[in-house]
Amino acid sequence: MNDHATTPAASLPRYSRIAGTGGYLPANRVTNAQLAERLAAGGIETSDDWITERTGIRSRYFAGDDELCSDLAVAAARRAIESAGGDGAAIDLIIVATSTPDMVFPSTACIVQNKLGLAGCPAFDVQAVCSGFVYALTVADSMIRTGAASRALVIGSEVFSRLLDFNDRTTCVLFGDGAGAVVLEASDEPGILASELHADGRHVGVLFTPGRVSGGLLCGDATLKMDGQAVFKLAVTVLEDVARAVLLKAGRTEADIDWLIPHQANIRIMQSTARKLKLPMDKVIVTVADHGNTSAASIPLALDVAVRSGQVVRGDTLMLEGVGGGFTWGAVLLDY
Ligand code: UT7
Repeated sequence: MNDHATTPAASLPRYSRIAGTGGYLPANRVTNAQLAERLAAGGIETSDDWITERTGIRSRYFAGDDELCSDLAVAAARRAIESAGGDGAAIDLIIVATSTPDMVFPSTACIVQNKLGLAGCPAFDVQAVCSGFVYALTVADSMIRTGAASRALVIGSEVFSRLLDFNDRTTCVLFGDGAGAVVLEASDEPGILASELHADGRHVGVLFTPGRVSGGLLCGDATLKMDGQAVFKLAVTVLEDVARAVLLKAGRTEADIDWLIPHQANIRIMQSTARKLKLPMDKVIVTVADHGNTSAASIPLALDVAVRSGQVVRGDTLMLEGVGGGFTWGAVLLDY
């Protein structure tokens, strides 16, 4: 069992910082052409050109039938722990951001904890759809700065392929599966500089999966529904506003951002956000072309790709931004 004694105020860390990153993608990479062929078999017409032009997506990864959200999460977590120095035993908090959990309950975080052999520390899920990782990171940062934890595993993991209606070409071409993770640890040096979280439940109906469990059975339609244009318009507005709010809070400006790492939903949303923040696209980490939209996994996956490719290096200032169903949105500014 971990010792969760209260930390005296005088010794509270000023910051939490990312000690390591990890990512995992299932083996099955599905290109636009392959997906178009699959849909054509069901009488649904789409094309590589349409998907690429409207979204920037060229491929996505689909988990195998026997692969669960927790399996993807564990693979990403192991890589994050390894890149943070390998000391998994010191993890004293596990948060999994997901909307595609293994079960109704217990949380996927508890299942991940068991698979990693880390029994004892608190473990719970955060459900904020595509903003989930930004929400989870902010919760972990708050818990570290109040002394409730000192080394957190924060994971975004999704198997959105399970929610897709392959008769609805307006949504099924957009999403994929994957997981990303970070180890976030207490630090006297930055670290996370500022964050902002928001939600507006008036927009529940623009992006949702209405099915529910009742009497032990699945009731209603458990496939993803989206008003794409409404989501697009909301996203480009809130992503600009929340980035500015976080910069103001941290006493920084757009010019201080080395890398923008936005939720990977659509290249056009990213281009619009970058334009509004006066950032050139070569300061934006883009993985949507290869990964598609992996919801809560997209930001930590993009971060991990950028770290491992050498784009993001220690000392860089990163703006992470999430937006999604709820409607939810948020941003985290940090020195990596
Ligand atoms: O994680 C957050 C969740 N999601 C998002 O961020 C998504 C936000 N929205 C979007 O990215 C875009 O709105 C979409 C990519 C979903 C759609 O792009 P759009 O440029 O807004 O297209 P549209 O909905 O205006 O559709 C244009 C046309 C329509 O045909 P008509 O009515 O002009 O004849 C659609 O039926 O494209 C058609 N269409 C397709 N055609 C081929 C829609 N989906 C497809 C498809 N293949 N897959």
